[in-house]
Amino acid sequence: MGSERTMVEIFERMRDGEQQIGARQPVPSHAAKVIARKVLRTGFEDKVPLATKPCLGIVLGTGMGSLVDHLEEKMTVDFSELGWLPSATAIGHAGRLVWGHVENQSVVMLQGRVHAYEGQPVEMLYRGIELFAALGIEQVLLTNASGGLTSDLVVGEIVILKDHIDFVRNALAAEYLKTNGSHVYDELLSAGAVRTAQVAGHRCRRGIYAYCLGPNYETRAEYRMLKMLGADVVGMSTVPEVIVARSFGMRVVAASIVTNLADSIDCEDKQPIHGEDVCQTAASATNGVWTIVRKLLDEL
Ligand code: HPA
Repeated sequence: MGSERTMVEIFERMRDGEQQIGARQPVPSHAAKVIARKVLRTGFEDKVPLATKPCLGIVLGTGMGSLVDHLEEKMTVDFSELGWLPSATAIGHAGRLVWGHVENQSVVMLQGRVHAYEGQPVEMLYRGIELFAALGIEQVLLTNASGGLTSDLVVGEIVILKDHIDFVRNALAAEYLKTNGSHVYDELLSAGAVRTAQVAGHRCRRGIYAYCLGPNYETRAEYRMLKMLGADVVGMSTVPEVIVARSFGMRVVAASIVTNLADSIDCEDKQPIHGEDVCQTAASATNGVWTIVRKLLDEL
């Protein structure tokens, strides 16, 4: 009887998200704050700092790098110059911190990211988000390329994440474990993003992202399994950033560009997927993603 009550209590606490009661409120590290101060106030040598606190942080995934060209008064620093953000090695990930303006709003972008499969220590997966937090950013747009699992998806379609299945479960630091797993993607901003992209003529819908380690693309059997488990798209990034951004209290929108389709792979004349093609196909959706950026900026 006594032990039954204990179980009930445990389940109630789990439901309330109190199971991670030991987690501390995260604070950005000293290194993140030092870089943030340069971006906001002192500048990097000849790079002019931002005039105002950035209202949006964007992580540009595979093929999305050219979105930095929309920034006015654009300033760029290579991750390697910062000595803190790890250099990206994956194809289509330049590895640069970029800031500038869209009309009179300040925006910061990470042009490229590292992935868990690159073998970096786990904190490297979310240092960019820690920097966003140090910059005072409260809204993030995370972008990535993915394989489409749901049968009626088309290549180039934008899927705004409504949930994810985390098959990797990176061992994040304790302060990032208090995120209530059931509410990670911002409903209001995400719904607005879908509507805006659709009105602008882009294929766009909400969907569930399966986060897998990679670096290999999935086998036919794995694509079939992921589809059966209820995922709409599959990729190798973003989820650690989502968890950390939510722990910092940021509102999160994630846009995934479908670059290949599981159904067309799961047939006898299966063609192998090439990273270069994934990159090019994702790049073809940058216009659609930019309409989403504009909408987010309008709402902030
Ligand atoms: N699987 C995992 N990651 C991906 C894929 C895929 O099919 N396409 C683009 N990124």
